[in-house]
Amino acid sequence: MCGIVGYIGKAEKKKFLIDGLQELEYRGYDSAGIAILKNGNISSFRALGKLENLRQKTKEFSSSGFGIGIGHTRWATHGKPTEANAHPHSGEFTYIIHNGIIENYKEIKEDLQAEGIKFLSQTDSEVIVHQFEQFIKKGLNSKEAFKKTIEVIEGAYAILLITKDEPETIFFAKNAVPMILGQNSCGEKFMSSSDSPLIGHATDVIYLNDGDFGWVKKDKITIFNGEVSIAPTFVTLGRDKIYAQKDGFRFFMEKEIYEQESVVSETLMGRVNDNGVELDELKNINFSNINAITICACGTSYHAALTAAYLFERISKIKCQVEIASEFRYKKPLLDQGTLFLVISQSGETADTLEALKMAKKAGMKTVAICNVDNSSIVRLSDATILTRAGIEKGVASTKAFATQIVTLWMLSLYLGNKKQNISKKVLQEEIKALLHTPSVLHVKDSIHEKIRRLSKRYLHGHGFFFIGRDIFFPLALEGALKLKEISYLHAEGYPAGEMKHGPIALADSELFTIALMPKNMLYDKTKSNVEELSARDATILAISPLEFDLADDFLQTSLQDHPMSEFFEMMIITQILALEISVRLGNDVDMPRNLAKSVTVE
Ligand code: F6R
Repeated sequence: MCGIVGYIGKAEKKKFLIDGLQELEYRGYDSAGIAILKNGNISSFRALGKLENLRQKTKEFSSSGFGIGIGHTRWATHGKPTEANAHPHSGEFTYIIHNGIIENYKEIKEDLQAEGIKFLSQTDSEVIVHQFEQFIKKGLNSKEAFKKTIEVIEGAYAILLITKDEPETIFFAKNAVPMILGQNSCGEKFMSSSDSPLIGHATDVIYLNDGDFGWVKKDKITIFNGEVSIAPTFVTLGRDKIYAQKDGFRFFMEKEIYEQESVVSETLMGRVNDNGVELDELKNINFSNINAITICACGTSYHAALTAAYLFERISKIKCQVEIASEFRYKKPLLDQGTLFLVISQSGETADTLEALKMAKKAGMKTVAICNVDNSSIVRLSDATILTRAGIEKGVASTKAFATQIVTLWMLSLYLGNKKQNISKKVLQEEIKALLHTPSVLHVKDSIHEKIRRLSKRYLHGHGFFFIGRDIFFPLALEGALKLKEISYLHAEGYPAGEMKHGPIALADSELFTIALMPKNMLYDKTKSNVEELSARDATILAISPLEFDLADDFLQTSLQDHPMSEFFEMMIITQILALEISVRLGNDVDMPRNLAKSVTVE
């Protein structure tokens, strides 16, 4: 996820901006830049890669004395990580930085190009600066032009803009992406994506609300929301940096669980509309002779692949086979050019997945990656990539990467079903409605988290856990079990509910914990019978379902949803929080569990 900072004051602006960006490094980035306006001149610097490269580029530059400045770290979404795509983006007399996605950028860009504007980057963000300058050229003053620009753009954004037209002002706007304004008693003003760059500088901050926009001068902050003027409400800023990087959560994993609601909105943004799914990333791939899919991945990404296989067969009506990458590599697989080879990887560097991809490429297969890290080895090698846009994931146990992978794969299944004309308009529309409902399902309610926290104390011992489910809830059971074992070090297995009677039920006694995924919209009665069989053998049952279940020892009630995928995401959150709370009670290191690494670049 991108990071933004801004500064108004007399201190060395370069220092605050680059140090501030360093504090936002944990969000992940592939390029960075700053722009400083002083004595009527704007100096701008951009560099690919680490902030050290930007420090080197600005080594000779100094900016003390009153002035204003903005800084940005970019995590590529539209357009490759290149210097031209790095922020700030400029027009003739204005510079902007933007975090988020402008959904209607194509329409705006076409209109501006028709008016003779030349674009220098592939980003969606660049439309903001040109649109602003066009309004100025048409006679608006800079405040009117900024307000009008915000009215034109749609999507998610945190924007900072500086212009020679108003050299002591930083314009800001926030919608669905965080932005904080800060100040201190020395007359300095600050802007940032999160608290941590502000600690030690600002004493009081304003957490902007969605729809807020306005301008900051050295002695005044003006905020509007629509036509309404908003009185600035300051709160005192805390002092703990690590706490601030975790946005106040105890662990990165916890923060990432709560972030799923917003990152999934980013995954969907600009890709889904009422008529279907548009994946520009795949425009150069000819799917006409593709009649099957093979998916290769490891760990959590493999569980996403297993889930996707149900969707590809059921929605897209394309045969789908899933392989664990480390097995695939040595089985001498039969590779056929009529099969699409899909790899899924959060990091884009997993050695087994990368090697499997190389084999597919060598065999002349069409390859597509679902990946979170642009410019990673897997992205560079694949014919096309759909980025999952989860932002950097710090917790070793993957959470938001999984959620965004599933959403991406669901979109892909609709895209392919439509391309192959295997999906009716009615079904497509129902699926789109459910897809767009996903972010709200991912909202974590305090009441359910608290209930899981209380309940977790009963699940700290016993001789093992079985997570069980049917259909797409089987891979979710596998993922729930993996989360638990990774951070609690307790033995857990995921199993198809209907398969328990073929062996594992021999383990059933009161010390066997069964986490039963019992969705209303997917084979409820069948799963219920399987859980009854376990209950009859005295297994301890924690049922997760929207429907009351008398035989449950513990019960976590989910909401009544119309679509199995909505139930899937709600249950996913519950299994993630259950693992987290058990791990916390056992005193384990939640974010860095023993023996595990975030990126597995060895066999
Ligand atoms: C589990 C986890 C791992 C990874 C696996 C693949 O929480 O994080 O199982 O999913 O190592 O990694 P990527 O997706 O980076 O290829």
